[in-house]
Amino acid sequence: MCGISGVASFHPIHDRLYEGVHQLEYRGYDSCGVAFVENRHIEVRKDVGTVDEVDSRANLRNLEAHVGIAHTRWATHGKVTRENAHPHVSCDGAFAVVHNGIIANYRALRERLQQAGHRFRSETDTETIAHLVEDHFRRTGNVEAAWVATLRELEGSYALAMISVHDSDRIYCARQESPLIIGVGTDANYVGSDFNAFIEYTKNAVILDDGEYGIVSKDSYAIKRVRDGEVVEKPVMVIPWDSELSRKGGYPHFMLKEIHEQPQAARAALAIENSAILALVQAMAEARRIYLIGVGTTYYVALYGQYLFAELADVDVLPVSSDEFRYLDKSDPNTVVLAISQSGETYDTLMSLRHAKERGAKTAAIVNVVGSSIARLVDHVLLQGSGPEVCVVSTKAALAQMVLLTRLAIELGVVRGKLSRGSQEAACDALHRLPGEIETLLNERSGLIRAAAYRHAHMHNWLFLGRGIYYPIALESALKMKEVTYLHVEGMPGGFLKHGTLSLVDENLYTLVFVPPRESGELYTLTVSCVEEVRARGGFVIGFAFDPAPGLFDEIILFPPAHAITAPLLPLVGAQLLAYFTATALKRNVDKPRSLAKSVTVA
Ligand code: F6R
Repeated sequence: MCGISGVASFHPIHDRLYEGVHQLEYRGYDSCGVAFVENRHIEVRKDVGTVDEVDSRANLRNLEAHVGIAHTRWATHGKVTRENAHPHVSCDGAFAVVHNGIIANYRALRERLQQAGHRFRSETDTETIAHLVEDHFRRTGNVEAAWVATLRELEGSYALAMISVHDSDRIYCARQESPLIIGVGTDANYVGSDFNAFIEYTKNAVILDDGEYGIVSKDSYAIKRVRDGEVVEKPVMVIPWDSELSRKGGYPHFMLKEIHEQPQAARAALAIENSAILALVQAMAEARRIYLIGVGTTYYVALYGQYLFAELADVDVLPVSSDEFRYLDKSDPNTVVLAISQSGETYDTLMSLRHAKERGAKTAAIVNVVGSSIARLVDHVLLQGSGPEVCVVSTKAALAQMVLLTRLAIELGVVRGKLSRGSQEAACDALHRLPGEIETLLNERSGLIRAAAYRHAHMHNWLFLGRGIYYPIALESALKMKEVTYLHVEGMPGGFLKHGTLSLVDENLYTLVFVPPRESGELYTLTVSCVEEVRARGGFVIGFAFDPAPGLFDEIILFPPAHAITAPLLPLVGAQLLAYFTATALKRNVDKPRSLAKSVTVA
């Protein structure tokens, strides 16, 4: 949700700010801008549009300055206009600020500053910060003192970076409930809202915590506490990601690349030490109540987990969408809250964990981003190791999370005596075959799915149906399809259809049914009866199935045979491909769908 990049370098910045903010574009892309100090004056170049569009109009590259900050925006306060784009400057032009998050008390601050004579040019909460620093500088005459006084007045969430003509060699930054990282290089130091801002140039990073601010220059950095100004010594971590993984590597879109990285993401999830899995399983086995929380895709992953834990471990877990958690939370010291989050920064999920922690619950998380807020908050963390997920819509991270939940459910099943050693081994073998099965599917079914997508891209209304564990698969597949195609796609349990939605079925609605393998018995037969209900009303049905069923569907995509425990993940990959190819047929902005942003760090 918005991206911040900053560079303080021995050499002219040239393209580094541009590259940094370009790599962060998946966090927000309605407008962007840079600010740098030149000849004792702050130059701001910003506008509405993507980084490339703004670059072509305003030139964000070839900068001769040595210090600069940049931002790519996903609007929260104020419309998408040039004035509202970051950076924002103070009245006297001596301070420029970029910001992620929301300043809760900005109206009161703005009023006070306006009364003191400050002129505002934008509708944003961020501009208030630039004027506030200017105000405090008038009193203190010292940039750091003005910065700290400003931070002490701000309420809400923020990651901030600021430059000033009064201290032109440094970037001032700060963090409160929104991630901010310092990149430690050899010929330059960096700030970024995530690693992608500087991973091209350095893998050494220091993560700020809430209530800390940083001062970054070309050859040093310092981190201090806002509360008392004390210096905080922090370890430098090495980012375990290959910068190559953040690039498209020959694929036309990150979404397709990340779909193809799923065998690797599943292998990484399978390679996680069993001791980490067992420690969490132990906590779950001792708990009286277990919540699985996530939002959007990760809520559907949690729902998938509910079926796994019921089936494999005979344990009821409560999946809750993180944005609703506060209304349902009954946590106590006998509760485990297991959160699922790719970014590890999602506001609703983070706040839910804090809420549960305050009530004494044990907390755990499956997270992709190392060092993220959620990863550092919880008692047990499983780092899924899927590598950077750049496309705004989640594919490989979600699949890896489902693999990890399967591992947890298997082990919990063993601990609770529900699964025999033999069933445990069979389930683990099935999981280890999964990466190869996904590879086969990608190699052998992509063409068929692409053809189907192009054939049916004209259809604006879709129903995605599944029963049992195929129900969360239908929901997640529907979400993927609507995110990238902008079509109307509803996911629902197959049995639900005849209780209302069947009235929608006609020639203007297509239905995709997720059919389990025939050996699933009743689950198979009941799913097939949904197909018949739709076709009896003249509906067009595509089956994602494992067994040929002549005449049952209007069209069928057959998936390679798989064990019941991993089978649902194959049509999930198929549905990701369907969404991707339909979006390309409709010429959508696949990696950055309209109105969406990755890592939603606001409420
Ligand atoms: C959808 C998608 C979102 C995220 C959700 C949670 O494709 O990516 O629904 O799953 O915003 O984000 P994380 O996993 O970062 O907590």
